[in-house]
Amino acid sequence: MPIIRFVPLGLEAPARDGETILDVARRAGAPIGNSCGGVGWCARCRICVIEGAANLSAATWVEQEKGDELGFTAGDRLACQACIKGDLVVTTTYWGPIR
Ligand code: FES
Repeated sequence: MPIIRFVPLGLEAPARDGETILDVARRAGAPIGNSCGGVGWCARCRICVIEGAANLSAATWVEQEKGDELGFTAGDRLACQACIKGDLVVTTTYWGPIR
């Protein structure tokens, strides 16, 4: 079972089949913004993958459109759209500095 680490929060949780980063973050208690119900529209769930970017599903069309609009760079994903296939380390701009 893949393990998702949320840094610098010091939280982690295993991912079940088909789960998104947002699903696991909720279970782990890692606060990730969201206001569209996880349909890929609000982009409040933007996170940055520090390790394991290849362990995620390809970006959905809505995620690609949001990424283009917002200027996503390498590692940026929408947590509600990215399905987990392997271990990950993720962060956000609002969880504080990584030490
Ligand atoms: S929760 Fe709205 S885009 Fe992910």
